[in-house]
Amino acid sequence: MNTMTVNDFEAAKNPVQDYARSRTVSEVNVEEPFNVEEIFFSRTDTRGVIEAYNSVFVRVSGCSASELKGAPHKIIRHSHMPKGVFWVLWNGLQHGQSVGAYVKNKSKDGHYYWVFALVTPLEDGGYLSLRIKPTSPQLKLVEELYKDICKLEQEQNLSPEESAKVIAQRLADLGFPTYGAFQAHALHQEFEARRIAIGLPPFPDLTQSETLAVTSEKLRQELNNLTAEFQNAEILTANMKIFAAKLVVGRATINEIAKNYDLMLKDIQNHLKTLAVPPVDRGLWDAPKELSAYFMICASHLVTEMCEFFDSEKHHSEGVDWEAEKHLLDQLRRSYDLKSEKAIEFGLQSAMAIQRRTDFLQRMVLGLSTVRIACRVEAGMLRDHAKGLETIVSRLDQFHDEIEAHLEKIKLYVATILHSVEHPD
Ligand SMILES: Cc1cc2nc3c(=O)[nH]c(=O)nc-3n(C[C@H](O)[C@H](O)[C@H](O)COP(=O)(O)O)c2cc1C
Repeated sequence: MNTMTVNDFEAAKNPVQDYARSRTVSEVNVEEPFNVEEIFFSRTDTRGVIEAYNSVFVRVSGCSASELKGAPHKIIRHSHMPKGVFWVLWNGLQHGQSVGAYVKNKSKDGHYYWVFALVTPLEDGGYLSLRIKPTSPQLKLVEELYKDICKLEQEQNLSPEESAKVIAQRLADLGFPTYGAFQAHALHQEFEARRIAIGLPPFPDLTQSETLAVTSEKLRQELNNLTAEFQNAEILTANMKIFAAKLVVGRATINEIAKNYDLMLKDIQNHLKTLAVPPVDRGLWDAPKELSAYFMICASHLVTEMCEFFDSEKHHSEGVDWEAEKHLLDQLRRSYDLKSEKAIEFGLQSAMAIQRRTDFLQRMVLGLSTVRIACRVEAGMLRDHAKGLETIVSRLDQFHDEIEAHLEKIKLYVATILHSVEHPD
């Protein structure tokens, strides 16, 4: 975990040499080209001052190696970038997080180039950034989002932190409950779009972790739906009790059935608390472990590719010790692999726990169903003495059909997860 202090953070915002301010080149709406296969590399100290870089960074930024070395990373800052995005970036790094973000940068000529950056704290201090060309349709969405946010920042004079809150809210509206969830999705989208553009075959571990993440999310939703269904069912027993109170014949029996049904329903509701996780207000970086796993796996592949790319780069930038940089990358890859393995193990363990609890739940539902059948039999016997009971019974039947359908889906999702973990290919 990185140990950057608040002072370091302040220093990063006020670097000794303010290169960005001294650069007066105006921005022009011309894209600086680079290939989809290429990866940018840079490593900074804890203030964001560049210590190492690769030839792609030198070429595309238009800065010479000596201009980059010792310069703050904001040397390439583009005015179309919301302040809030950089607040998110530094906030993540301060929390020891790897941060994935879309960044529009400015070359020395004032041209622009978009990257998807994966920025990571290093164990021994400082940060490392790998950047790829974003090619997924998501970039368009992000461009629009950034435009809106920059406008808001200006109009409402938002602080970077306030702007970051607006960004988080906008992402939540788009279906990403936290920035952590968004970055996992974004890195995966970009990684896959790039893989297809380059013509590489799919990575089996990525396919596995995608199945795990997507199915775990569906499973969570289904468990929440089931919980909601059981909560709504309380009205059924309430209606049954009201109905029983009006009866002349069979009052005690129907009342007893309603009471039993109610008790069993409450037991099931309690059991469900061990299964379903109610949605909570999660911090910026919170994301389900299974989702983080595929973020880590993409990151690990990217790091591996970066090492290979170093070897293939024809003109290594002067003043950079490649072996030392590769060693750092290797450490980073190992830590991504370890974290993703742990996350997948967690996904497997939770699916197995859900499987056991769902089996138990199914037995409880069977018990509940017996009471429902008793109610149906009673309705048949009471006939004209209990007009209207048929409607209650058919609502109970409908409720049980819905429960069965939810349980079937839950079992299917659990089986999919177990299969994907046990048979990764
Ligand atoms: C490893 C690392 C990589 C970074 N990469 C970029 C980048 O590509 N473009 C950029 O504008 N800022 C980048 N930053 C963030 C800058 O340090 C800075 O926070 C940002 O440009 C905003 O500067 P400002 O708040 O002074 O305007 C990076 C920071 C770190 C630590």
